[in-house]
Amino acid sequence: MTFARLAHAVETGALTLPDDLRLVCLEPNPDADPGMLPVRDITVQQTFKPAFDHFESLGLTVTTEATGAADVVHVTLPRSRELARGLIAQAERLAEGGLVIVDGAKTDGIDAILKFAKSRVAIEGQMSKAHGKIFWFSAADAFRDCALPVPAPVLDGWITQPGVFSADGPDAGSEALVAVLPKTLKGRGADLGGGWGYLTRHLRDLSGVTHVDLVEADRRALTCARLNLGEDRVSLHWADATTWGTPASLDWVVMNPPFHTSRTPDASLGQDFIRSAARLLRPKGSLVMVANRHLPYETTLASAFQQVQELDGDTRFKVLQADAPITSDKKTRVKRR
Ligand SMILES: C[S@@+](CC[C@H](N)C(=O)[O-])C[C@H]1O[C@@H](n2cnc3c(N)ncnc32)[C@H](O)[C@@H]1O
Repeated sequence: MTFARLAHAVETGALTLPDDLRLVCLEPNPDADPGMLPVRDITVQQTFKPAFDHFESLGLTVTTEATGAADVVHVTLPRSRELARGLIAQAERLAEGGLVIVDGAKTDGIDAILKFAKSRVAIEGQMSKAHGKIFWFSAADAFRDCALPVPAPVLDGWITQPGVFSADGPDAGSEALVAVLPKTLKGRGADLGGGWGYLTRHLRDLSGVTHVDLVEADRRALTCARLNLGEDRVSLHWADATTWGTPASLDWVVMNPPFHTSRTPDASLGQDFIRSAARLLRPKGSLVMVANRHLPYETTLASAFQQVQELDGDTRFKVLQADAPITSDKKTRVKRR
């Protein structure tokens, strides 16, 4: 939706963008379409791999860290306040006196960041549209004290950073999963959507486990994972877990899959993770996963695995185990606790 607000501001004449300018877009939404904009030279900074691939497939210049000068820098507001302020500071540095445009949903805190910006710079224009706002100002180094967040220790020495999933410490669902991890997991496996490494570290500590592949789309989370895990018996992959592949068939997959695309709840993403796990496993391999109780994963599990059981659960979470991915039309048995 973000470029829709920008396109609207341009179409209505509230904002003028000459078409030979250099535009940098910081962290646009994965489904945004820059084709809506009347600009030819667009560079996208994107740290979320599926979105990175999407923008690259559109033929745009895509980087994980924009450094070149720009005439206009567009910031898509993330939910994390620290990350939002850090991106605006980065936008000011890139724009070097040009225009900074901040664009975001009410639910991501656009009103609070507008208030904060007003306390520092003269806002030159603003518009409301699609449950959000867009505002712009001339870069003046007004946010120079707002650094981009860096990894830092939180609870129990875990290293995370603002903007990543569960930045304050371990996720309750992942803790529920760790509490019942089958000690029989052996050999090499993967943690799909491994975040900053909480599950992977527990998995690596199981005596029979030889290696863990942590697959994560968020580059910032992966940087934290490296600090939490070091190099011993883990490989970190900046990749889309729904398409990631490995030459070795895996003995197991453990995961706490995502259930949002951008801000929208989306069970199909978790279902794609399940199909990906089935594709990656050896014929007798196992998937162990945690999910919020209401998420509809059982049908997908039953169509991808020969046997599915609920290992544990309560009113909030369920921990599910699925064994032996289906490669032919074998019948699936679903065991209840
Ligand atoms: C529910 S969180 C779990 C994180 C971590 N495993 C934990 O237990 O704290 C899901 C993770 O999946 C990541 N993710 C979302 N979409 C992804 C994708 N297509 N491929 C890989 N990772 C993805 C998110 O960035 C997030 O870190």
